[in-house]
Amino acid sequence: MSPDSLPRAMLITADFAELRRRVAAARHAGQLIGCVPTMGALHAGHVSLMQQARAECDVVIVTLFVNPKQFGPQEDLQKYPRPFEADGDKCRTVGVDLLFQPDVRAMYPVQFATHVAVDGLTAAWEGAVRPTHFRGVTTVVAKLLNLTQPDKAYFGQKDFQQQAIIRRMCRDLDMPTEIVTCPTVRDSDGLALSSRNVYLNPSERASGLSLYRALCLARDKLRAGEKNLAAIRLAMRAEMEQTPDVAVDYATIADPESLVELSEPQSRMVALVAARVGPTRLIDNLLIP
Ligand code: PAJ
Repeated sequence: MSPDSLPRAMLITADFAELRRRVAAARHAGQLIGCVPTMGALHAGHVSLMQQARAECDVVIVTLFVNPKQFGPQEDLQKYPRPFEADGDKCRTVGVDLLFQPDVRAMYPVQFATHVAVDGLTAAWEGAVRPTHFRGVTTVVAKLLNLTQPDKAYFGQKDFQQQAIIRRMCRDLDMPTEIVTCPTVRDSDGLALSSRNVYLNPSERASGLSLYRALCLARDKLRAGEKNLAAIRLAMRAEMEQTPDVAVDYATIADPESLVELSEPQSRMVALVAARVGPTRLIDNLLIP
Protein backbone atom coordinates (compact mmCIF):
# COMPACT_ATOMS: atom_id res chain seq x y z
CA MET A 1 0.00 0.00 0.00
CA SER A 2 1.42 3.38 -0.93
CA PRO A 3 1.30 6.13 1.72
CA ASP A 4 -1.34 7.90 -0.40
CA SER A 5 -3.77 5.01 -0.11
CA LEU A 6 -3.47 4.72 3.67
CA PRO A 7 -6.69 5.85 5.34
CA ARG A 8 -6.38 9.23 7.03
CA ALA A 9 -6.80 9.26 10.78
CA MET A 10 -10.03 11.07 11.57
CA LEU A 11 -10.37 12.93 14.83
CA ILE A 12 -13.80 12.72 16.45
CA THR A 13 -14.36 15.31 19.11
CA ALA A 14 -17.07 17.03 21.09
CA ASP A 15 -14.55 19.36 22.67
CA PHE A 16 -14.73 23.04 21.66
CA ALA A 17 -11.19 23.82 22.77
CA GLU A 18 -9.76 20.90 20.81
CA LEU A 19 -11.71 21.94 17.70
CA ARG A 20 -10.44 25.51 18.05
CA ARG A 21 -6.85 24.29 18.45
CA ARG A 22 -7.11 22.20 15.25
CA VAL A 23 -8.70 25.06 13.34
CA ALA A 24 -6.04 27.51 14.57
CA ALA A 25 -3.26 25.09 13.56
CA ALA A 26 -4.76 24.64 10.08
CA ARG A 27 -5.15 28.39 9.59
CA HIS A 28 -1.60 28.97 10.84
CA ALA A 29 -0.36 26.44 8.26
CA GLY A 30 -2.27 28.30 5.53
CA GLN A 31 -4.57 25.36 4.88
CA LEU A 32 -7.95 25.81 3.22
CA ILE A 33 -10.70 24.66 5.59
CA GLY A 34 -14.00 23.19 4.36
CA CYS A 35 -16.95 22.56 6.64
CA VAL A 36 -20.00 20.36 6.05
CA PRO A 37 -22.71 20.93 8.68
CA THR A 38 -25.06 17.96 9.14
CA MET A 39 -27.51 16.43 11.56
CA GLY A 40 -26.15 12.95 10.86
CA ALA A 41 -28.09 9.94 9.53
CA LEU A 42 -25.71 10.41 6.65
CA HIS A 43 -26.66 9.26 3.15
CA ALA A 44 -25.22 9.69 -0.34
CA GLY A 45 -26.44 13.31 -0.42
CA HIS A 46 -24.32 14.21 2.61
CA VAL A 47 -21.46 12.13 1.22
CA SER A 48 -21.51 14.15 -2.02
CA LEU A 49 -21.06 17.36 0.01
CA MET A 50 -18.15 15.79 1.91
CA GLN A 51 -16.56 14.61 -1.33
CA GLN A 52 -16.78 18.05 -2.87
CA ALA A 53 -15.22 19.53 0.28
CA ARG A 54 -12.49 16.85 0.18
CA ALA A 55 -11.75 17.70 -3.45
CA GLU A 56 -11.54 21.46 -2.83
CA CYS A 57 -10.05 21.87 0.65
CA ASP A 58 -6.98 20.83 2.66
CA VAL A 59 -8.88 20.18 5.86
CA VAL A 60 -12.45 18.83 5.90
CA ILE A 61 -14.55 19.26 9.03
CA VAL A 62 -17.96 17.60 9.28
CA THR A 63 -20.23 18.74 12.07
CA LEU A 64 -22.87 16.33 13.34
CA PHE A 65 -25.42 17.89 15.64
CA VAL A 66 -29.15 17.17 15.81
CA ASN A 67 -30.12 20.75 16.52
CA PRO A 68 -33.14 20.94 18.83
CA LYS A 69 -33.71 24.62 18.01
CA GLN A 70 -34.78 23.87 14.45
CA PHE A 71 -37.45 21.31 15.38
CA GLY A 72 -40.98 22.49 16.18
CA PRO A 73 -42.70 21.17 19.33
CA GLN A 74 -44.71 18.60 17.33
CA GLU A 75 -41.78 17.55 15.12
CA ASP A 76 -39.53 14.49 15.09
CA LEU A 77 -36.60 15.59 17.33
CA GLN A 78 -36.88 12.56 19.62
CA LYS A 79 -37.18 9.97 16.87
CA TYR A 80 -34.73 11.61 14.42
CA PRO A 81 -32.38 8.76 13.35
CA ARG A 82 -28.99 8.78 15.13
CA PRO A 83 -26.79 6.02 13.65
CA PHE A 84 -23.60 7.61 15.01
CA GLU A 85 -21.26 4.63 14.37
CA ALA A 86 -22.28 4.27 10.73
CA ASP A 87 -22.00 8.05 10.29
CA GLY A 88 -18.42 8.00 11.58
CA ASP A 89 -17.56 5.20 9.16
CA LYS A 90 -18.96 7.17 6.21
CA CYS A 91 -16.94 10.24 7.16
CA ARG A 92 -13.80 8.14 7.51
CA THR A 93 -14.33 6.56 4.08
CA VAL A 94 -14.55 9.98 2.41
CA GLY A 95 -11.35 11.08 4.18
CA VAL A 96 -12.84 13.62 6.56
CA ASP A 97 -10.20 15.04 8.90
CA LEU A 98 -12.34 16.04 11.84
CA LEU A 99 -15.83 15.05 12.94
CA PHE A 100 -17.21 17.57 15.42
CA GLN A 101 -20.06 16.08 17.42
CA PRO A 102 -20.92 18.57 20.15
CA ASP A 103 -23.16 17.89 23.08
CA VAL A 104 -26.45 19.77 23.22
CA ARG A 105 -25.61 21.23 26.65
CA ALA A 106 -22.31 22.58 25.34
CA MET A 107 -24.00 24.16 22.31
CA TYR A 108 -26.87 25.61 24.31
CA PRO A 109 -25.90 26.08 27.96
CA VAL A 110 -28.74 27.13 30.24
CA GLN A 111 -27.88 30.83 29.95
CA PHE A 112 -27.95 30.70 26.13
CA ALA A 113 -29.87 33.79 24.94
CA THR A 114 -28.75 34.79 21.44
CA HIS A 115 -30.46 33.93 18.17
CA VAL A 116 -29.76 34.79 14.57
CA ALA A 117 -32.85 35.44 12.46
CA VAL A 118 -33.00 36.36 8.77
CA ASP A 119 -36.07 38.39 7.78
CA GLY A 120 -37.93 38.20 4.48
CA LEU A 121 -36.57 35.01 2.97
CA THR A 122 -37.76 33.02 5.97
CA ALA A 123 -41.40 34.16 5.80
CA ALA A 124 -42.72 31.99 2.98
CA TRP A 125 -42.68 28.27 2.05
CA GLU A 126 -40.91 26.25 4.74
CA GLY A 127 -40.97 29.27 7.05
CA ALA A 128 -44.77 29.55 6.76
CA VAL A 129 -45.25 25.89 7.68
CA ARG A 130 -42.44 25.70 10.27
CA PRO A 131 -42.38 29.17 11.92
CA THR A 132 -39.39 28.65 14.26
CA HIS A 133 -37.36 26.37 12.00
CA PHE A 134 -35.09 28.80 10.16
CA ARG A 135 -34.16 30.82 13.24
CA GLY A 136 -32.93 27.53 14.69
CA VAL A 137 -31.00 26.77 11.51
CA THR A 138 -29.33 30.18 11.21
CA THR A 139 -28.47 30.24 14.91
CA VAL A 140 -26.75 26.87 14.80
CA VAL A 141 -25.04 27.48 11.45
CA ALA A 142 -23.69 30.82 12.71
CA LYS A 143 -22.28 29.03 15.76
CA LEU A 144 -20.81 26.20 13.67
CA LEU A 145 -19.18 28.64 11.24
CA ASN A 146 -17.75 30.64 14.14
CA LEU A 147 -16.35 27.47 15.68
CA THR A 148 -14.88 25.98 12.51
CA GLN A 149 -13.96 29.23 10.70
CA PRO A 150 -14.09 27.57 7.29
CA ASP A 151 -13.06 29.13 4.00
CA LYS A 152 -15.92 27.21 2.39
CA ALA A 153 -19.08 25.65 3.81
CA TYR A 154 -21.08 23.12 1.82
CA PHE A 155 -24.87 22.90 1.70
CA GLY A 156 -27.29 20.91 -0.45
CA GLN A 157 -29.61 22.30 -3.08
CA LYS A 158 -32.10 19.80 -1.64
CA ASP A 159 -32.87 22.38 1.05
CA PHE A 160 -33.13 25.25 -1.40
CA GLN A 161 -34.60 27.85 0.93
CA GLN A 162 -32.09 26.93 3.65
CA GLN A 163 -29.06 27.58 1.43
CA ALA A 164 -30.56 30.89 0.22
CA ILE A 165 -31.11 32.01 3.83
CA ILE A 166 -27.62 30.96 4.92
CA ARG A 167 -26.10 32.91 2.00
CA ARG A 168 -28.09 35.96 3.07
CA MET A 169 -26.97 35.58 6.69
CA CYS A 170 -23.29 35.34 5.71
CA ARG A 171 -23.55 38.41 3.47
CA ASP A 172 -25.50 40.45 6.01
CA LEU A 173 -23.21 39.58 8.93
CA ASP A 174 -19.96 39.86 6.91
CA MET A 175 -19.08 36.26 7.62
CA PRO A 176 -16.04 35.44 5.47
CA THR A 177 -17.10 31.89 4.55
CA GLU A 178 -17.96 31.10 0.93
CA ILE A 179 -21.23 29.17 0.76
CA VAL A 180 -21.11 26.35 -1.80
CA THR A 181 -24.39 24.77 -2.91
CA CYS A 182 -24.12 21.17 -4.16
CA PRO A 183 -26.62 19.42 -6.46
CA THR A 184 -29.40 17.25 -5.04
CA VAL A 185 -28.58 13.54 -4.96
CA ARG A 186 -31.53 11.32 -5.87
CA ASP A 187 -32.34 7.63 -5.88
CA SER A 188 -32.38 6.12 -9.37
CA ASP A 189 -36.16 6.66 -9.60
CA GLY A 190 -35.85 10.36 -8.74
CA LEU A 191 -36.72 10.45 -5.03
CA ALA A 192 -34.45 13.04 -3.39
CA LEU A 193 -32.38 11.41 -0.64
CA SER A 194 -33.34 12.56 2.83
CA SER A 195 -32.60 11.34 6.34
CA ARG A 196 -36.39 11.24 6.79
CA ASN A 197 -36.92 8.75 3.92
CA VAL A 198 -36.34 5.94 6.46
CA TYR A 199 -39.75 6.81 7.93
CA LEU A 200 -41.50 5.87 4.64
CA ASN A 201 -43.07 2.44 4.20
CA PRO A 202 -42.95 1.03 0.64
CA SER A 203 -46.30 2.48 -0.43
CA GLU A 204 -45.48 5.90 1.07
CA ARG A 205 -42.13 5.82 -0.67
CA ALA A 206 -43.94 5.23 -3.99
CA SER A 207 -46.24 8.17 -3.20
CA GLY A 208 -43.23 10.32 -2.33
CA LEU A 209 -42.15 10.09 -5.95
CA SER A 210 -45.06 12.37 -6.84
CA LEU A 211 -43.00 15.36 -5.62
CA TYR A 212 -40.33 14.73 -8.24
CA ARG A 213 -42.99 14.04 -10.87
CA ALA A 214 -44.59 17.42 -10.11
CA LEU A 215 -41.21 19.16 -10.48
CA CYS A 216 -40.47 17.41 -13.79
CA LEU A 217 -43.92 18.31 -15.03
CA ALA A 218 -43.25 22.00 -14.30
CA ARG A 219 -39.86 21.83 -16.00
CA ASP A 220 -41.29 20.08 -19.08
CA LYS A 221 -44.18 22.52 -19.44
CA LEU A 222 -41.84 25.51 -19.16
CA ARG A 223 -39.45 23.98 -21.68
CA ALA A 224 -42.40 23.43 -24.02
CA GLY A 225 -43.12 27.17 -23.84
CA GLU A 226 -46.03 27.24 -21.38
CA LYS A 227 -46.22 30.80 -20.00
CA ASN A 228 -49.13 30.47 -17.59
CA LEU A 229 -47.40 29.84 -14.26
CA ALA A 230 -50.67 29.70 -12.32
CA ALA A 231 -51.78 26.82 -14.56
CA ILE A 232 -48.45 25.06 -14.04
CA ARG A 233 -48.74 25.42 -10.26
CA LEU A 234 -52.21 23.88 -10.38
CA ALA A 235 -50.92 20.99 -12.50
CA MET A 236 -48.06 20.39 -10.04
CA ARG A 237 -50.47 20.35 -7.13
CA ALA A 238 -52.86 18.02 -8.98
CA GLU A 239 -50.02 15.62 -9.79
CA MET A 240 -49.27 15.26 -6.08
CA GLU A 241 -52.86 15.38 -4.80
CA GLN A 242 -54.01 12.55 -7.05
CA THR A 243 -51.44 10.31 -5.31
CA PRO A 244 -52.52 8.27 -2.26
CA ASP A 245 -51.47 9.60 1.19
CA VAL A 246 -50.12 12.91 -0.20
CA ALA A 247 -51.20 16.23 1.38
CA VAL A 248 -49.62 19.20 -0.39
CA ASP A 249 -48.18 22.10 1.62
CA TYR A 250 -47.09 24.13 -1.40
CA ALA A 251 -46.18 23.83 -5.08
CA THR A 252 -44.73 26.93 -6.67
CA ILE A 253 -42.34 28.50 -9.13
CA ALA A 254 -40.20 31.22 -7.60
CA ASP A 255 -37.21 33.47 -8.16
CA PRO A 256 -34.12 31.50 -7.00
CA GLU A 257 -32.66 34.44 -5.05
CA SER A 258 -35.65 36.22 -3.53
CA LEU A 259 -37.88 33.08 -3.43
CA VAL A 260 -40.80 35.32 -4.41
CA GLU A 261 -43.46 33.47 -6.39
CA LEU A 262 -43.32 34.41 -10.06
CA SER A 263 -46.27 35.55 -12.15
CA GLU A 264 -44.48 35.08 -15.45
CA PRO A 265 -41.49 33.01 -16.64
CA GLN A 266 -37.96 34.45 -16.41
CA SER A 267 -34.48 33.21 -17.29
CA ARG A 268 -33.82 31.42 -13.98
CA MET A 269 -36.57 29.87 -11.90
CA VAL A 270 -36.88 27.33 -9.14
CA ALA A 271 -39.81 24.97 -8.73
CA LEU A 272 -40.42 24.21 -5.05
CA VAL A 273 -42.69 21.57 -3.54
CA ALA A 274 -43.49 20.30 -0.05
CA ALA A 275 -45.99 17.68 1.01
CA ARG A 276 -46.82 15.32 3.81
CA VAL A 277 -46.72 11.72 2.71
CA GLY A 278 -48.55 9.86 5.44
CA PRO A 279 -46.98 11.31 8.61
CA THR A 280 -43.68 12.23 6.93
CA ARG A 281 -42.96 15.67 5.50
CA LEU A 282 -40.93 15.77 2.27
CA ILE A 283 -39.55 18.73 0.29
CA ASP A 284 -37.91 18.92 -3.11
CA ASN A 285 -37.03 21.45 -5.80
CA LEU A 286 -35.67 21.79 -9.31
CA LEU A 287 -33.74 24.71 -10.80
CA ILE A 288 -35.11 25.56 -14.23
CA PRO A 289 -32.61 27.52 -16.31
P1 PAJ B 1 -29.20 17.71 7.22
O1 PAJ B 1 -30.64 17.52 6.91
O2 PAJ B 1 -28.45 16.63 7.91
O3 PAJ B 1 -28.46 18.06 5.88
C1 PAJ B 1 -27.11 18.41 5.88
C2 PAJ B 1 -26.77 18.93 4.50
O4 PAJ B 1 -26.97 17.90 3.54
C3 PAJ B 1 -27.69 20.10 4.10
O5 PAJ B 1 -26.92 21.11 3.48
C4 PAJ B 1 -28.64 19.45 3.12
O6 PAJ B 1 -29.17 20.35 2.15
C5 PAJ B 1 -27.73 18.42 2.47
N1 PAJ B 1 -28.52 17.36 1.82
C6 PAJ B 1 -29.55 16.66 2.35
N2 PAJ B 1 -30.08 15.81 1.43
C7 PAJ B 1 -29.37 15.99 0.30
C8 PAJ B 1 -29.42 15.42 -1.02
N3 PAJ B 1 -30.32 14.50 -1.35
N4 PAJ B 1 -28.53 15.85 -1.94
C9 PAJ B 1 -27.61 16.81 -1.62
N5 PAJ B 1 -27.50 17.37 -0.41
C10 PAJ B 1 -28.37 16.98 0.55
O7 PAJ B 1 -29.78 20.59 6.70
C11 PAJ B 1 -29.46 20.26 7.82
O8 PAJ B 1 -29.02 19.01 8.16
C12 PAJ B 1 -29.46 21.24 8.99
O9 PAJ B 1 -30.49 22.17 8.80
C13 PAJ B 1 -28.12 21.95 9.20
C14 PAJ B 1 -27.74 22.83 8.02
C15 PAJ B 1 -27.01 20.93 9.49
C16 PAJ B 1 -28.23 22.86 10.46
O10 PAJ B 1 -28.58 22.13 11.57
